[in-house]
Amino acid sequence: MPHARGDFEQMWRDLAPVGRSAASGGYHRQPWTAAETELRSWFVEECAARGLTVETDGIGNQVAWWGDADLPGVLTGSHLDSVLDGGAYDGPLGVVSALAAVDVLRDRGFEPTRPVGIGVFVEEEGSRFGRACLGSRLVTGATTWDDARELRDRDGVFLADAIVDAGLDPSAGLLSLDRVGTFVELHVEQGRDLVDRGVPVGLASEIWPHGRWRFDFAGEANHAGTTRMEDRRDPMLTYAMTALAANKQARLAGQRATFGRVAVEPNGTNAVPSLVTAWLDARASSDAALADLVDAVARQGSDRAARDGTSLAVTPESVSGSVAFDADLAARLAALGDRPVIPTQAGHDAGILSAAGIPTAMVFVRNPTGVSHSPAEHAETADCLAGVEALADVLAELTGAGA
Ligand code: GLV
Ligand code: MN
Ligand code: MN
Repeated sequence: MPHARGDFEQMWRDLAPVGRSAASGGYHRQPWTAAETELRSWFVEECAARGLTVETDGIGNQVAWWGDADLPGVLTGSHLDSVLDGGAYDGPLGVVSALAAVDVLRDRGFEPTRPVGIGVFVEEEGSRFGRACLGSRLVTGATTWDDARELRDRDGVFLADAIVDAGLDPSAGLLSLDRVGTFVELHVEQGRDLVDRGVPVGLASEIWPHGRWRFDFAGEANHAGTTRMEDRRDPMLTYAMTALAANKQARLAGQRATFGRVAVEPNGTNAVPSLVTAWLDARASSDAALADLVDAVARQGSDRAARDGTSLAVTPESVSGSVAFDADLAARLAALGDRPVIPTQAGHDAGILSAAGIPTAMVFVRNPTGVSHSPAEHAETADCLAGVEALADVLAELTGAGA
């Protein structure tokens, strides 16, 4: 399929420099920054080159429709933002593949009987404002604007101000999902399931429930030299023990617990800190197991705080319940190519739309190492092109005559 290969590779080359760190090779495509604004423009141009008009809502979510506007359609796409120092594929692969899949369908002479939409959701990673899938949450009503407007980034910038600074107008309203009959998100796999099975493409069965909790460990600032060890109220110790406890708890239960972000006050070398704030990312196979995991970590942290003379306050910042994708839809789409249907522990806009009652499926593309949320994230071009073909097959199945 020479046309699809050319389109895909050209788009990939065009995106490669945007937001890329020369030092690590990773990406910083935080929402409402210059890099992300450039990606939004790139998307408008790619759609225009295909004769498609992009609607951008007041916060930066985007959609372009191909086909009759009056019928329920099939939306495909993903996100363009990244985690801090992230990989190239998490998000953009789904957007580039959606555009390339439309090219494939047109090369095949396919005429959709229902519209095909290509969409981009903003702040999927929650890397700036801490709420995962913020764009799709706002669009579905899972998060209200009144709630979101209180969010601030690490520099204290309010969400609305960041959006306005990026040239958008939050009062202009949000994308309507009224036309979306089905959502299909293609994504690089973020584990080793497909590579271990030796297949390039799979479908998703479920997303583990997961979330982020802020742990504030408060103690007493004091001199690092003159304060006797037994006189200290050191929140760093309470944090350190809590991080070890979280790791042990999750390992014993076959769950996941990560402290990947820490802020220390005043962050001086020669002072006992006054405050350590750390963010727990926890994931488990059921909502009850996730609640138990977070409770157990918080309880062990509080017990240790009592011994250290410190205190611990735990605040949920982003919680996503378990998602079971439409099993009939997944089976139907998997049968198009005899593809495995596999679970994931990673969150996606697809999970938010599914939870909002929209029949939703995910197509995963093999990741040869399983590494993700890292500059080392990778997918082979041949597998990406297999993903494009698979997505084109899925869209043809869902929008062709008889769909
Ligand atoms: C998103 O990629 C997440 O699972 O955190
Ligand atoms: Mn991600
Ligand atoms: Mn993603």
